[in-house]
Amino acid sequence: MSDKTYENIKIERDGAVTTVMLNRPEKRNAMSPGLHYDMEDALTWLARDEATRVLILTGAGEAWCAGQDLKLYFRETANNPDERARSNTSSHHWRWELLSRFPKPTVAMVNGYCFGGAFTQLCAVDFVITAEDAIYGLSEVNWGIIPGGIVSWNLTDMMLPRHALYYAATGEPFDGKRAVELGLANFAYPKESLHEETMKFAQKLLKLNPSVLRYTKDAVKAVRGMTAEQARDYLGAKQDALARHDKEIADKVGMKQFLDDKTYRPGLGPYQSKT
Ligand code: COA
Repeated sequence: MSDKTYENIKIERDGAVTTVMLNRPEKRNAMSPGLHYDMEDALTWLARDEATRVLILTGAGEAWCAGQDLKLYFRETANNPDERARSNTSSHHWRWELLSRFPKPTVAMVNGYCFGGAFTQLCAVDFVITAEDAIYGLSEVNWGIIPGGIVSWNLTDMMLPRHALYYAATGEPFDGKRAVELGLANFAYPKESLHEETMKFAQKLLKLNPSVLRYTKDAVKAVRGMTAEQARDYLGAKQDALARHDKEIADKVGMKQFLDDKTYRPGLGPYQSKT
């Protein structure tokens, strides 16, 4: 079956790596209601798509995403409460609920501008690889609005509170290198090597057992809101569930490779998953 096509986003495949590209370059990939509906549909589909084992989220042209479309998302729905509510629900659904719970690893490849509402999907993905010269900004203060949706929550969840407040209150832009310092991104590379480095990282993820990767990311995210006692209980149950879910894990293949076969050392390379 051929891939779905959309008006506002583009899907590209490279083996098991699927790239979803926001595709409104002439509007710097600002998020219109139509883009939200497309993303909601695509992520729902790709979550179940067996050919997708790593998801990359990027933007066409100069921008990763210039935030909500001030004209189509805000101004043009101001007198249309039904459309405002529908696009608001869709916006939250894909940017947070679908993306932060996506069953395969997700990587943001931040190729350029990242503003306002784009911080929600930036924080929802598992990993962020950015161009050094990408420009980030919480520009809401300039429009007389606060970082809404859940952006303010995303900021304080991901950054130290002093940094979150500083950038939200001033709207001062910062670059990709600073995004790494702030804990918003994992790595920054010159723009020319961004794609190559992101694909290298995706290949690294593909070598790992997909079940343990999924359970690990779910666990690391879930325990943040728990007490130590709750976390201990939850992680024990989660590990049991993982072993029931995946035969390779139940068979302790990685441990056998280390202890019996002597073919693997965790300090020298990735676990050799057969999955
Ligand atoms: N909403 C609506 N339209 C937007 C937009 C947004 N968030 N961001 C960019 N655009 C539109 C511009 O209005 C312009 O449209 P036009 O060609 O019809 O005039 C087009 O995209 C290109 O933008 P432009 O500003 O000319 O591009 P640039 O490369 O010089 O600057 C940005 C890029 C991202 C720095 C600049 O567009 C910007 O500051 N955008 C606002 C970002 C923002 O504050 N987002 C948060 C919203 S809460």
